[in-house]
Amino acid sequence: MTSDLRQRKKAARIALPTAVLLLIGSAVVVQSSAPAAAAETTLRAAAAKAGLFFGVAASPNRLYPIVGQEFSQLTPENDMKPDRIATSSGGLQNTSGADTLVNHAQSNNMLVRGHTLVWHSQAGALQGASQATLNTFIGNAINRWGSRIAYWDVVNEALEDNNTGRRRNQWPHTMNRDANGDGDFFDAGDTDVIRDSFIRAKQVVQAGGLTTKLCINDYDVDGLTVQGGTPNRKADALYDIVRNYRQYIDCVGFQAHFNDNPNSIITNDLQANIQRFADLGVEVHITELDIDDDLSNNDIGTGQAENYRKVVRACLNVAQCTGITVWGISDSESWRSSERGLLFTGGNGSYQKKAAYHAVLDELNKGRNPTAPPTTPPVTPTVPPTTPPVDPTTPPPPTTPPNPTTGCSATVSLDSWTGGFVATVRVTAGSAPISGWSVQLTLPSGASVTNTWNANRTGTSGTVRFSNVSYNGSVNAGQYTEFGFQGVGTATGLTPVCTAS
Ligand code: XIL
Repeated sequence: MTSDLRQRKKAARIALPTAVLLLIGSAVVVQSSAPAAAAETTLRAAAAKAGLFFGVAASPNRLYPIVGQEFSQLTPENDMKPDRIATSSGGLQNTSGADTLVNHAQSNNMLVRGHTLVWHSQAGALQGASQATLNTFIGNAINRWGSRIAYWDVVNEALEDNNTGRRRNQWPHTMNRDANGDGDFFDAGDTDVIRDSFIRAKQVVQAGGLTTKLCINDYDVDGLTVQGGTPNRKADALYDIVRNYRQYIDCVGFQAHFNDNPNSIITNDLQANIQRFADLGVEVHITELDIDDDLSNNDIGTGQAENYRKVVRACLNVAQCTGITVWGISDSESWRSSERGLLFTGGNGSYQKKAAYHAVLDELNKGRNPTAPPTTPPVTPTVPPTTPPVDPTTPPPPTTPPNPTTGCSATVSLDSWTGGFVATVRVTAGSAPISGWSVQLTLPSGASVTNTWNANRTGTSGTVRFSNVSYNGSVNAGQYTEFGFQGVGTATGLTPVCTAS
């Protein structure tokens, strides 16, 4: 990415009056929508209401209170990369920074994204390693943190720059060999580091009964097109990889480091691109968001705050876009500080919100697929609806007795460690489709829930009730959906009871 970076220094484009106007604008919205539910005042709370996480990249020396207050997910910015934690034989070393971050996330009810296992950059002692060594490292790293890592970036930046649609020919991707050159890596004699690393990661997850989801992550894969309407071949290549290896890949990350490079501007088809990956059945995340404030020169947006709003909206409008992560807290502490691409200014724990922050919060508070609020209160019909007169000659409509095989059932699988656990609950529809569900279970005393995903929750200890969120209520006959929760204490003998609606 560094070659893409623009060093142009310009005066801040987000002038104070704009920020003030935005603030005033959101105040007006809040007033006019009263008595609707009050808007949330932190990114994590607003995101949770909309059913997604809002995360941040972090380092152990920057674990200020704001991290847990504003964000519900944490990605180690550098502390889980091979150059930090891998030995040349695929073992682990220097994991204390990563441990600190995982512990901090857990005690602040944040999800963790492991970043990253196979990458051409920051490869450290794994530079030039064989697939067998990579596989050893993949096993060691995944098993060290188990289900405490919700998502792992198994393969990062597999594809070349400049919209060629080709894979990188750099370590460790030289392990790619397409023997007959047909672009398909499944023929005899082919080797494919992407596929083989995912197969290994999936084996480790399954052997350990882990809930960890496995992701592929890249940049300049955001839109269906790049600037000028040219097809985004890099995004297309990523799409093909996910489609071909779908059985091992659970999630896709768009890094979304937006800058003035023509391949990394924000196009109007970002949402459509997220949607086509979602249609493959994977979760989509915006994983490393920062937006150059010069981007307003090049993009159809008019400024950084509006560009942030567009990205957040594109994610919110696709149910399977389940999280957004910004790549740092504040401009001055960012890897691209000259681009002033983040949501806060300031540093060392003392931060000021930018216009971009307020835009993101406001957009999150609108939720998924918002419909315009009614300007007038709904009219109460003056004539109450009447039941049609009963024709005595017509037999009463048959009453269908409830079918005992409809409804739903639920099972729990647990991954436990000393002092905590992650539960994955599978909700299976009976012989008829269901359009909503709720699951009730009772936790043993001393256990409580700290974090939930893919469900709404009432209660944290004792009897706890979970119900579907907007995108997973409909389950076809015999099919299932899963949600999960993390907790402290010991959770054994859980007996979930499922009710369908
Ligand atoms: C960056 C970090 O932010 C920097 O501190 C480090 O010096 C280099 O890496 N894509 C990725 C991230 O997947 O890991 C990179 O993070 C940014 C680009």
